[in-house]
Amino acid sequence: MEYDEQHLEALAVSLNDPKVREEYKAPYDGHKCSFVPRFLGGFIVMAGNIVFGDTPSYLKFRAVEVIARVPYHSWDSAAFTILTTCYSNAAKALELGHTSRFARMAQDNETMHVVVISELSAQEEQANVIIHTVIPMLFAFFYYWMSYVLYLLKPRYSMELNYLFESHAFEQYSLFLEQREHDLKRKPVDSEYLRWYGRHAKSHYELFELIRNDELIHRNRSIREIEEGHLR
Ligand SMILES: [Fe+2]
Ligand SMILES: [Fe+2]
Repeated sequence: MEYDEQHLEALAVSLNDPKVREEYKAPYDGHKCSFVPRFLGGFIVMAGNIVFGDTPSYLKFRAVEVIARVPYHSWDSAAFTILTTCYSNAAKALELGHTSRFARMAQDNETMHVVVISELSAQEEQANVIIHTVIPMLFAFFYYWMSYVLYLLKPRYSMELNYLFESHAFEQYSLFLEQREHDLKRKPVDSEYLRWYGRHAKSHYELFELIRNDELIHRNRSIREIEEGHLR
């Protein structure tokens, strides 16, 4: 079962192998997004870089994760809304069911990211309430409704916007692992939430490797939703 938690966890672990990761990543590298998601995605990434800086950091990732988790809840909610009127259309219900299953697994996964990264950032960096708490909440609010309305009007655009945001997250985690490898490998992880989720990571490095892999899964899956769900 593709959306089984154990299957997803095994997939994330398998992507630690650079060869496996490259093979998994390559087919969706060149996806050509439409103008609207490119414009919105470019704006969000640019605004994020201005507010949180170009360089990856614990607090930048905390903000990214506050924002990155909302489209999944938004799609689940939008799909639920559409079914209030489309329940007699089984084909449509199946299409929406695809999205909802993906969205439910991904939102739990993203929630784990934000909770655990928040725990780590409290030990590592000093947060500014306006920049690191209030602004990400505002971003998340607007991103939620942007994803919701786009999903109702043009689901393909909403998936492509997510593809771009997840691509950015994947690149930032890859850069962080490269820049801070030595330091991250020395730091142990001890999180009750992570254990409850069912993930095992001994060091910050191992944790961030798996989170990077999760973002790649989300990125690819967004485009597969378009292909398999035949989204407009
Ligand atoms: Fe994430
Ligand atoms: Fe993600």
